[in-house]
Amino acid sequence: MSLAITLSRAQEGVAAPLVTVEVHLAGGLPGTAIVGLPEAAVREARDRVRVAIQNTHFEYPNRRVTVNLAPAELPKDGGRFDLAIALGILAAGGQVPREALAECEFLGELALSGELRPVTGVLPALLRASREGRRMIVPAGNAAEAALVEDADVRVAANLADVCAHLRGAGELPPPAAAVAGDPSGGAPDLADVRGQAQARRALEVAAAGGHHLLLVGPPGTGKTMLAARLPGILPPLGDLEALEACAVRSVAGLQVDPARWRERPFRAPHHTASAVALVGGGPHPRPGEISLAHHGVLFLDELPEFDRHVLEVLREPLESGHIVISRAARQAEFPARFQLVAAMNPCPCGYAGDPRGRCTCTPEQIARYRGRISGPLLDRIDLTVEVPRVPLAELGSARTAGDESSAAVRARVIAARRHQIARAGRPNAQLGTRELERDCALGAAERSLLERALDKLGLSARAYHRVLRVARSIADLDGGAACVGREHLAEALQYRRLDRA
Ligand SMILES: Nc1ncnc2c1ncn2[C@@H]1O[C@H](COP(=O)(O)OP(=O)(O)OP(=O)(O)O)[C@@H](O)[C@H]1O
Ligand SMILES: [Mg+2]
Repeated sequence: MSLAITLSRAQEGVAAPLVTVEVHLAGGLPGTAIVGLPEAAVREARDRVRVAIQNTHFEYPNRRVTVNLAPAELPKDGGRFDLAIALGILAAGGQVPREALAECEFLGELALSGELRPVTGVLPALLRASREGRRMIVPAGNAAEAALVEDADVRVAANLADVCAHLRGAGELPPPAAAVAGDPSGGAPDLADVRGQAQARRALEVAAAGGHHLLLVGPPGTGKTMLAARLPGILPPLGDLEALEACAVRSVAGLQVDPARWRERPFRAPHHTASAVALVGGGPHPRPGEISLAHHGVLFLDELPEFDRHVLEVLREPLESGHIVISRAARQAEFPARFQLVAAMNPCPCGYAGDPRGRCTCTPEQIARYRGRISGPLLDRIDLTVEVPRVPLAELGSARTAGDESSAAVRARVIAARRHQIARAGRPNAQLGTRELERDCALGAAERSLLERALDKLGLSARAYHRVLRVARSIADLDGGAACVGREHLAEALQYRRLDRA
């Protein structure tokens, strides 16, 4: 019987479901039918595969060729199945040994010359294949990404001819060259460059310690953008799994994975003209947006009130859940989106509200309208808000003082604080559930009444109550991991809520 089966993987969100390619050759009128691909994709795949096989000096079967990609309901776009289809056709016709295909999975688009072109989503596919104990053959153009999965059995190939030689035992395909990990914080901007701003530095450290969302408010040119860009450099290093998960999103987005920098925390800073789709993901073949590219890292929204209000509202759900589900007519795609939000804004349209020299030219209505662009529910989700005032010129020009600590010094404290959190709950404070909060942030009677009075005065919600507690827990963790959340921890956490209703 002229039947051959090859394996490949589709791309659905960051999942990589298995696809079985069945190829059957029969007598009758010569021609090729592909079942299980959308119409336009069928036509293109058919032509690419036929010409690539001929240009590799194999014979394209002069028979009735039926290709079936199963299961039927998976998204199957792009040329990622070309290699698997071509090998299935060659195996069905006896030109490569059928048995050699069984323990392998194949990914790759074919050029007409038979060269293999890189495809998206190799990393998540490889993780799955490796878990299921199969070897995977991928295009040479995806080698950098393929090298990241240490214990995977993966081979890279430049063209169809090399893959066939390998399967016939006439030549070995090489594994990808091992990735060279760079210094994870190498080249990142350093906190030592920032003069003054003791309060904002402290807020940045607390935010880093517990993974809390942060808003910086201040007049132009005071260092808000500088400070935000320095957050990744004080965060704890990514774990192996976290780094791979972050890379998997880049991989399905079709972005280059840099082997020297893949362990760095993502830092994404979309412009305020970004659309909702660019920010949260979407499109006909759902692609991840900025919030998913910032998974396990930092999403920086500079000039927050300039973002379209509708665009900001779509952030509300992923800010709490840590993932995003994109629904399209036929199917859903889910992407991870556990990011830390840092936002910056001026206090008013002209930028100088609260300036001691009275430079502000805005009317109270203008200021109210400006701040109103950020909805209450969004502000409610931001754990820390801090003022970044003007730094006296004399201080700017002066040499570094003891207060202008380097990122390395701050990072050491952040790592120690994070260690307390992982030992206690297995995750950063920002991700504590209500029940864990009650267990780990139990308050004495005096602290409880302080918190209740303060929240009442600020008119804050129940969500804010829990968020203040989480921040207070992080402050206690920076304070040597104090077992109880004390008055001073709570009082500082409340400081960061002061601007909410300003
Ligand atoms: N605290 C500071 N320490 C050292 N340099 C600073 C400080 N604040 C501002 N600068 C200098 O001013 C420049 C602008 O700073 P930055 O872009 O961070 O301001 P900003 O607060 O984001 O302003 P805007 O509201 O206009 O966006 C920096 O590149 C740096 O040269
Ligand atoms: Mg700025």
